[in-house]
Amino acid sequence: MRREPSRHTLKEGSNITIRSLSPQDAHAVVAFMLEIYTTSRYMVKYPDEWTVTPRAEAAYIRGALEDPHRVLLGVFHKGNLVAMGDVFEVSKRQRLSHRGTLSLAVALPYEGRGIGSLLVETLIEESKKMKFEQIELTVVTENKVAIHIYEKYQFIPYGTLKRGMKNRDGSYWDLLHMVRDLEG
Ligand SMILES: CC(C)(COP(=O)(O)OP(=O)(O)OC[C@H]1O[C@@H](n2cnc3c(N)ncnc32)[C@H](O)[C@@H]1OP(=O)(O)O)[C@@H](O)C(=O)NCCC(=O)NCCS
Repeated sequence: MRREPSRHTLKEGSNITIRSLSPQDAHAVVAFMLEIYTTSRYMVKYPDEWTVTPRAEAAYIRGALEDPHRVLLGVFHKGNLVAMGDVFEVSKRQRLSHRGTLSLAVALPYEGRGIGSLLVETLIEESKKMKFEQIELTVVTENKVAIHIYEKYQFIPYGTLKRGMKNRDGSYWDLLHMVRDLEG
């Protein structure tokens, strides 16, 4: 689904635009995700596992735009992609389609400016418009900044999967499951 662009001023004064990604953004998205997988510790992929081509990414974005139960957003600063957020239904199966799943990532130089919070707020609004009744996510228990934001927007933990991620050095991370009720 396509969301109309919105403009925002961050607390430090810079202006950003949040809008749906379009297939023309595919090169920027491929580069952005590589940067995220390289700089962020808590992602599910290692950078060498990110092998998507711009052509495949363009098709993926087109699919997201055509899906009435998905909003795939980019955050742009001076024309550059600096963050992404996504919410889509857990499954097309009728018994599961009241549930959305949310994810987001902010480029390292742009962290701490309020973009992650703004994205969560925006994705909650869009989820309500799509009539999701709840949205869910999974986060590494060490990812304190992400958990802080989710709690700020009333996500509630409902369980921890011990040793949910195994790192290449043999260490493990636990995964926290969280849910946000959109009806109450
Ligand atoms: C997690 C992430 C999305 C946060 O985005 P961001 O734009 O930096 O977040 P914001 O600036 O909106 O908010 C940061 C909040 O964390 C708080 N914070 C900073 N350091 C913290 C810490 N060590 N412990 C807890 N909270 C902390 C800040 O005070 C701020 O909260 P406030 O708005 O209530 O003051 C971003 O760091 C990111 O993309 N990381 C890599 C990918 C990732 O982890 N994605 C989530 C996977 S589930």
